[in-house]
Amino acid sequence: MPENVGEKKKVIFSAIQPSGTITLGNYLGALRNWVKLQDDYNCIFAVADLHAITVRQDPKAFKQNILNAYALFLACGVDPVKSLFFIQSHVHTHAELAWILNCYTQFGELSRMTQFKDKSQKHSDNVNAGLFTYPSLMAADILLYQADVVPVGVDQKQHLELTRNIAERFNGIYGNTFKIPEPYISTVGSKVMSLQDPTKKMSKSDENVNAWVAILDKPETIMKKFKRAVTDSDTVVKVGEGKGGINNLIGIMSAVTSKTAEQIAAEFEGKGYGDFKTAVGEAVIEEVRPIQERFNDLINNKDYLVETYRKSAEFALKISQRTLDKVMKKVGYVLK
Ligand code: TYM
Repeated sequence: MPENVGEKKKVIFSAIQPSGTITLGNYLGALRNWVKLQDDYNCIFAVADLHAITVRQDPKAFKQNILNAYALFLACGVDPVKSLFFIQSHVHTHAELAWILNCYTQFGELSRMTQFKDKSQKHSDNVNAGLFTYPSLMAADILLYQADVVPVGVDQKQHLELTRNIAERFNGIYGNTFKIPEPYISTVGSKVMSLQDPTKKMSKSDENVNAWVAILDKPETIMKKFKRAVTDSDTVVKVGEGKGGINNLIGIMSAVTSKTAEQIAAEFEGKGYGDFKTAVGEAVIEEVRPIQERFNDLINNKDYLVETYRKSAEFALKISQRTLDKVMKKVGYVLK
């Protein structure tokens, strides 16, 4: 049993989809915050592989991506001794509660989700029911563990508001069943933008590979992507209006070096965008270097990975089954 889980600390739940590439956006917006929160909260984290099949996956690549994501999160500092860290599809209560919550979620609510609108446009040949009801599964993930706090990037805020609405609705009908979770959105790194179009968030589904940086990109690839980052016709390294590209690079620099935007502006006074982009590339390479080294060790240590995800899933099932039983009893099911 992870040492923190069970203590009287607030509960945190979060998850990330195992799409082939975990980006700098995922890392700065989510993962890095998870790692920092582990000492102060009962943390429960998952690789959200059930969510991932809302877009078509190649079976062989999908399997490898799930394992890679599990190993990479460990490499980033998710500590299975302190926290509970499992693979979502190993814990069947998630799919079961998601079904029940689907019946307490309105068509109109799901239709308003911006991620559904974006993704159904992007994958217009595969607008499946799972893509539509995806937020109910996310609500199940969170509510099963009675989470107090959910650390996410800005783009997941709407799903979290829906989770709260579903929980309040259910509690309203059946009495207190679910804890109402609060979002936790870090002030730095919560919205890392595309390096090619700073009006869009950095996303692994972007067809332009220069738009995103993956945590496992080679150093020379990272540097190349930063050197190609879109900026503007100004030359001053300073946060400003109409300077989306530079604002984004300053945000990234600030997140990885812990320097403020003002300190960064002072440091680069009189220097051009070229120097600045190289410096951001170098800072990011230094940030990910130890992660990549740990990842390479872990991914070759299959026994450790299997043992860790199995134990975690067993424990996650125990905790989540308590909530599922409570829900089923309240709805009126005959329990075994
Ligand atoms: P996903 O896999 O798209 O993203 C994982 C986390 O990374 C954050 N993120 C970003 N943060 C800053 N800048 C960006 N460019 C950026 N891109 C992504 C996301 O906000 C998220 O926190 N549905 C979720 C996964 C999930 C989940 C959950 C999250 C499943 N169940 C329960 C929290 C609680 C998703 O697709 O995230």
